[in-house]
Amino acid sequence: MIKLHDLEFEPYISEEEINVAIDKVAQKLNEDYLDANPIFLGVLNGSFMFASEVIKRFSGDCEVSFVKLGSYEGTQTTGTVKTLLGLNQSLKGRKVILLEDIVDTGNTLEEINKILLKEEVANYEVATLFYKPEAYKKEFNIKYRGMEIPNKFIVGYGLDYDGLGRNLTQVYKLK
Ligand code: IMP
Ligand code: MG
Repeated sequence: MIKLHDLEFEPYISEEEINVAIDKVAQKLNEDYLDANPIFLGVLNGSFMFASEVIKRFSGDCEVSFVKLGSYEGTQTTGTVKTLLGLNQSLKGRKVILLEDIVDTGNTLEEINKILLKEEVANYEVATLFYKPEAYKKEFNIKYRGMEIPNKFIVGYGLDYDGLGRNLTQVYKLK
């Protein structure tokens, strides 16, 4: 058991299980993109560990970049405007694979998709390490999923609770 801030967490998914899930995603990506020179776009901060592991397992040529969803207050009529920080190259005509740590409600993913799908990419897919089917209510089909998990709060392997827990090499769930 571990304690992060005020909450206690117990072991939930071992590093071996995570590696099996990453191997599975990486194998599919190798089948689908080996000669495609894709761009992997990791979503910070949570995806750094998954991105590193899955990209290490990719055998073809590829490019790697990291993005972060930001927001600023627009005019009164536009409200909060979402931006994608770190996207400093054109994705036009490229095959893009977004790497996410977890898809929960899909709200974050939807915002990122709206921005990336304006970029006239040749092909766009999402690979996520964890996916909560009970929470996901959006239309976008997530093609590559490492592991489906119930609607529980987890930490570790890049995922945090209020900033802590990202460095844990296995996943813990709220006790
Ligand atoms: P969304 O609900 O799909 O928009 O999830 C957005 C973000 O919430 C994810 O990218 C994570 O950063 C965070 N998140 C969702 N579920 C969990 C969890 O179980 N543990 C830690 N962070 C989570
Ligand atoms: Mg995240």
